[in-house]
Formats: sequence, structure tokens, C-alpha cells
Amino acid sequence: MTPEDKKRNAAEAAIDYVKPGSTIGVGTGSTVNHFIDLLGEKMQGKVNSAVSSSEASSERLRSHGIKVVDLNEVGELDLYVDGADESNHQLQLIKGGGGALTREKIVAAASAVFVCIADESKLVTTLGAFPLPVEVVPMARGLVIGALQGLGGDPRLREGFVTDNGNQILDVHGLQIDDPIDMEIRINQIVGVVCVGLFAHRPADVLILGGEDGIRSIQA
Ligand code: A5P
Repeated sequence: MTPEDKKRNAAEAAIDYVKPGSTIGVGTGSTVNHFIDLLGEKMQGKVNSAVSSSEASSERLRSHGIKVVDLNEVGELDLYVDGADESNHQLQLIKGGGGALTREKIVAAASAVFVCIADESKLVTTLGAFPLPVEVVPMARGLVIGALQGLGGDPRLREGFVTDNGNQILDVHGLQIDDPIDMEIRINQIVGVVCVGLFAHRPADVLILGGEDGIRSIQA
């Protein structure tokens, strides 16, 4: 089974969480792209609309005839489906490999249930082998780099990348994140940080992993 098959299987299992007639939150990335395509195939005309976490996902949703709405128009969402770069067994996540972390965190915060979909390689014991993305206001970049080094990390600018919000991303290497909630709080307190891709305060509620033998789910 290829990695794409595993992602698609996880995405297909998440379709069961979608209530006909609902407005759902939709994340970003290659796994979510499968989910969007499956929404188009299996839920055509059944999903009312979606709140999207990126311009790329909005475009893909529209290509399947799914209406994209502003979060401010709909308030709380029943469901958010998104991928992750890493998950620990508490379903605390590193996200932002695709650079959409800020909008992803906003949509996750607005959603009653967060279903995370991934291939099984994303499940880890300790977060941090995947470089932690941090979105920064460009003029504060130097200041934030110094503060992240003070936390023991090695922040590197994601070259040639601008977020949908017009900001930059620092990918922080070398962190072993033993206490994800504490690390999320510390990084959020650095002036100039827009968002950190640690989803520890608001973890996923369900993790669906695609593997060689099919899918398995872990509940928080
Ligand atoms: C996007 O910014 C990320 O948070 C993605 O959810 C994450 O990188 C997972 O992407 P893949 O599904 O492509 O692995």
C-alpha cells in the first residue's frame, strides 16, 4: 500500500463524521486533499458549505462545487477535519508543514469535534522531530529567532514562503517537546509570534491513522 493509499483510507473514514446539511471546517495538506475529493465524490449536494483554512483548500473545495463561507458568518462548527505533521498519543499535534497553521488553529478552536487524519508514520512518542513551524510578523523575525534560541531551538526561515496572512514561517529544529502545553504557552508569549504550530491546548479529539492493515482510530 502506498503512502497516498493510507492517507486516502484515513480521509475516507473521516467522511462518516460529516452530517448531511452541515457546515464543516476543512484543513490543508495532501491528506485533506483526499478528504475534499471524497466530499466531492460521496457527499455531492449533501454538505451545505465549508470554512476553509487556506486559499489552496478553498480553491479545491470550490472545484467540487462546495461553497466556502467565512467563519464569522457561521460561528461554531460541529466538525473540523485536518491532517498533521506529528501526533503524540495524547493527540497533541505539530501542524503547519504547509504553512496554514494560523487559520488551522482558528478553525480548530471554533469546532466542537476535531478529527485528525494521517498515515501511521505521523504517530510519535515525543513531538519535535518534525521542525516546529512558527508564523511571525516579518519585522519581528530577528527578535523571535533570538527568543526561540533561548528555548533551545534552532529556528530557520522558510525561504521564499509567505503565508496566506502575509507573514513568514520559522521552522524550529532541535526541540524535544516533553511538555507541549508549556511550550505552546511559552512560544505564544513571544512578541511578534502570530501563531505556533503546536496544537496542545486544543488537541485533536479523534486521530484516524491509515496503515498497511487499513485504518485505526485513537480517541482522546
Ligand atoms: C498544513 O499547514 C499542515 O498543518 C498540514 O495539516 C500538515 O502539514 C499535514 O499535511 P499532509 O497531509 O500533507 O501530510
